[in-house]
Amino acid sequence: MNVRLISLTLLAFVLNIAIANDEVIPGNAENGRLLWTLETTVKGDVRSCSTCHTADPRQPGKHTRTGKPIKPLSPSINPASLTDLKKINKWFHRNCKWTLGRVCTAQEKADVLAFLRSN
Ligand code: HEC
Repeated sequence: MNVRLISLTLLAFVLNIAIANDEVIPGNAENGRLLWTLETTVKGDVRSCSTCHTADPRQPGKHTRTGKPIKPLSPSINPASLTDLKKINKWFHRNCKWTLGRVCTAQEKADVLAFLRSN
C-alpha cells in the first residue's frame, strides 16, 4: 500500500465511499438498499444479498447453502465489519457473482457500502 492508497482508504471510511481501481466514488445509501434486496434469478434460483444477510444489515445472517451463521454487516452492531479492504473486495467479487450473475460496478459497491454504514 502506498501513502496515497492509505489516505484514500482512511477518507473512504470517513465519507462512506468506496475505492475501486484507485477511484473514489460517493455512494448513495438508498440505491444501495434497493440493490441489497433486488431479486435476480440465477441458475433457476431467486437470489438477493438479503438471501444470506437478511434485508436488515443489523441482523445476523445465515448462509443459504451451508447454513453457517453470518455476523451482522452493520458496523454499528459489528465493529469489525467493513474494516478490511481486501476482505470487502473479496466478498463483493464472490457475492455479486453468485447473487447477480456478474460482478458489481464500482458505483454499486459504493452504494452498498453507504447503505451498510448508514445502518
Ligand atoms: C450465499 C450467501 C451470501 C449472499 C447471497 C451474499 N453474501 Fe455477502 N457474505 C457472505 C459471507 C459468508 C460473508 C463472510 C462473512 C464473514 O466472514 O464474517 C459475506 C461477507 C460480505 C461482505 C464483507 C463484510 C466484511 O466484514 O467486510 C460484504 C461487503 C458482502 N458480503 C456484501 C454482499 C453483497 C453486496 C451481496 C449481494 C450482491 C451479498 N454479500 C450476498 C455470504 C453471502
